Amino acid sequence: MPNSGLEFDLSQMSQKQERFFMSRKRFIGYGGARGGGKSWAVRHKAVLLAMKYPGIKILILRRTYRDLERNHVRELVPMLKGIAKYYAQDKYFRFDNGSIIEMGYCAAESDVLQYQGVEYDVIFIDEATQFTWEMFTKIYPSARGANDFPHRLYLTFNPGGVGHEWVKRLFIVKRYIGDEDPDEYDFIFANVYDNKVLQEKDPDYVKMLNALPDGLREAWRDGNWNMLAGRYFKEFDYNIHVIEPFEIPKHWTRYRAIDYGLDCLACVWAAVDELGNYYIYREYAESDKVISDGAKDIIALTGDEEIRYTAAPPDLWARSQESGKGKADLFYEAGLMLNKSNNNREAGWLAIKEALKVYDAGMSDGVMLKESRLKIFSSCTRLIENLPALQCDEKKPTDLRQFLKHNTIKT
Ligand SMILES: Nc1ncnc2c1ncn2[C@@H]1O[C@H](COP(=O)(O)OP(=O)(O)OP(=O)(O)O)[C@@H](O)[C@H]1O
Ligand SMILES: [Mg+2]
Repeated sequence: MPNSGLEFDLSQMSQKQERFFMSRKRFIGYGGARGGGKSWAVRHKAVLLAMKYPGIKILILRRTYRDLERNHVRELVPMLKGIAKYYAQDKYFRFDNGSIIEMGYCAAESDVLQYQGVEYDVIFIDEATQFTWEMFTKIYPSARGANDFPHRLYLTFNPGGVGHEWVKRLFIVKRYIGDEDPDEYDFIFANVYDNKVLQEKDPDYVKMLNALPDGLREAWRDGNWNMLAGRYFKEFDYNIHVIEPFEIPKHWTRYRAIDYGLDCLACVWAAVDELGNYYIYREYAESDKVISDGAKDIIALTGDEEIRYTAAPPDLWARSQESGKGKADLFYEAGLMLNKSNNNREAGWLAIKEALKVYDAGMSDGVMLKESRLKIFSSCTRLIENLPALQCDEKKPTDLRQFLKHNTIKT
């Protein structure tokens, strides 16, 4: 497609992106793997539509405000300089021709209500697998209107996340139910190898994908949806389990849990409130750290917080042949005393599943509130990204796949 004379550059558009731009179906799926130029395609297609159809109303959605801001607003503001004005308060771009691109997010189930009943001509859902089916079913009817504009939904996604199953059904397996019309769906697969710009600009991105643990690598790099079918923490829902950080009251008991694998030292900090609810409030994960340095980092991050104990897996007490010392000794020498945790990993994982379980916490304004005993601060981004992707052990579905024991996924 030739450069349309705008300030932005379409010259490096991939063939897949071009197909995405040209599709005329009602529901257009794009990507299916990481790094295929999904977010770029969303931004540019939205702008092209806004320029082509004066007065069109477009909505771009991400699951969280932070992702919306970092992924799209920051890119669109300079890109649309002189073309559209950004109204930060209400989060929309207005073009001289009257077109609007509104920037939205749905961190909580109730956020969807803002978009329900409002008419948009075109809706983009970037990272659709982060949206629940309930959210999607409330959002998609809003792409309508008694006008001649196209009425479409563009969805980009990769495997994993709360929306894994419904996105897979509609765009990958294509098993339609009820009055869903197969002719209304289109899917254009693209992965990182379709994105030449990224491969050139950031070769480490491909390396990162290659270094992912088995299962996640096939899912994110190759777009294999079956690898994540056996998600272990199926209960995990961003909407319920992730909360904004707050100051932990001093009297709550705090713990740390650490693991040290072949290439990674990981630590999470947890606090327990008066009712026995858990809050994961900090995380640390570093690769290629020697124990003494890692221990120092963990101590520094902890500051003057009082930690009841620091749980660590028993294998850290195994003595090395050369030094006769265990890793736990090295932590101790660096000032970090560890407490040996129970070796029953499976019981530990099941306890986390139990704590993640969602329960009805009563009605508020006609909406059933959902709660769980375990919450994670939104600042713990790696944990949040990895938990939903963790896999069951095929032979023992109550256990996690062995690779997890010593892998923290670097993203
Ligand atoms: N046609 C293009 N022209 C120029 N740059 C592009 C193009 N397509 C993608 N890029 C750049 O490649 C990088 C990755 O693209 P993008 O963020 O759209 O991928 P993604 O599929 O959304 O990735 P992720 O799965 O990590 O969200 C970005 O820096 C983006 O600007
Ligand atoms: Mg993206």
